[in-house]
Amino acid sequence: MPKKSQTKPKTKKKPELKAGQRLGAHGRPVPLSEKERLFHEYTKEECIDYLRKLAKRHPDMFISRNWFRTHSNISESTWNRHFGTFTEFKRSAGIDLSRHAHKVEKQIAKHAGHDLIAEMTVEKRNYQGKYLKPHNGRFQTFMACSDVHDEHCDPFWKRVWLDAVKRVQPELIIFNGDIFDLAEFSKYEQDPREWDVTGKINLVLDFIRQTREAAPNAQLDFIEGNHEFRLFRHLAEATPALKTVLSDLHGFTIPKLLGLDEFEINFVGNADLKAWNEKDIRKEVNRNYKIYYDGAFLACHYPDRRNLGMAGIGGHHHKHEVWPIRNAWGIASEFHQMGAGHYRAASYCDGEIWNMGFMIGHVDTLTKCTNFEYIPVSDHSVVGGEWYVRTDIERIV
Ligand SMILES: [Fe+2]
Ligand SMILES: [Fe+2]
Repeated sequence: MPKKSQTKPKTKKKPELKAGQRLGAHGRPVPLSEKERLFHEYTKEECIDYLRKLAKRHPDMFISRNWFRTHSNISESTWNRHFGTFTEFKRSAGIDLSRHAHKVEKQIAKHAGHDLIAEMTVEKRNYQGKYLKPHNGRFQTFMACSDVHDEHCDPFWKRVWLDAVKRVQPELIIFNGDIFDLAEFSKYEQDPREWDVTGKINLVLDFIRQTREAAPNAQLDFIEGNHEFRLFRHLAEATPALKTVLSDLHGFTIPKLLGLDEFEINFVGNADLKAWNEKDIRKEVNRNYKIYYDGAFLACHYPDRRNLGMAGIGGHHHKHEVWPIRNAWGIASEFHQMGAGHYRAASYCDGEIWNMGFMIGHVDTLTKCTNFEYIPVSDHSVVGGEWYVRTDIERIV
């Protein structure tokens, strides 16, 4: 028979007690109300350092008071003693906004809370017929120009245009798109040191002001071109912060940028600013057209609109071209794609057959027949028998 092995009686291991800890009736240590590590006295700087490290480790996490409680070794009483509130604790650590920054953020949120793009689309559409100045009389004259492209405006072209407006005193003047250029908002690269958005906006406003002064009683219509569209898109979508600065501090809104109220201008801007790709933008800008005198002619920026089967004027391509076309009343007429108002030496004119000019049109509102009198502008131009010749000062090389 095997010998019964002699086993040593088991001795119970004495549990280790931490400072301030006692044994319970069950013989096990009673847990401390707070973990020992919480008794470590964190200084203010250590608290800040801890919180920053935590925020860095969890960049996507919103650090709430509760989250901090379960993920940190710092007791509530510690940070509370140093900072008073958890918000102040976060501010001190720089992971929350300062009181001033918070106020600014709230202002920005006020703008961001709305659908800015939709709002701006509505804003510009509201100017469609705000300043109509109908004139009586069977025979009406209009003048139109396009593609002035702000700083690239040709000084000689401008002199001829303004003098012609003054002499002709048309009932209607049409800015047929791309009066702005603003290469700053282009997809092409531009050296930021050369940016001068405000200067260019002022150039456009000067041009419009001078035109208004030359013909105080004329109806002024501004058809939105792709460059105006681009400007508005940047305003609407760049950042809510920029929108806040522009509208709250500088008062820059679409009507102010174009002087719509100041110079009593109707704005034809049907294009929905919510167009996201080139194809959609083109489609939207194509909606910017206006039909005059019951179909006697139409004005549009993209000449594609001649597909409406109507005589009229277009721009955008910076060169004069004419298509024979019947107007809406079946009368044999023309569609003119006009030349530009900007000088030939502009940096983006790379040998293209572009030219300058503008339109004077004469409408018989009874027969709906429009006679188009296109005025080419080179180093000379003739309007109604009056000769204009480019001076040396007006020569740009
Ligand atoms: Fe243009
Ligand atoms: Fe254009």
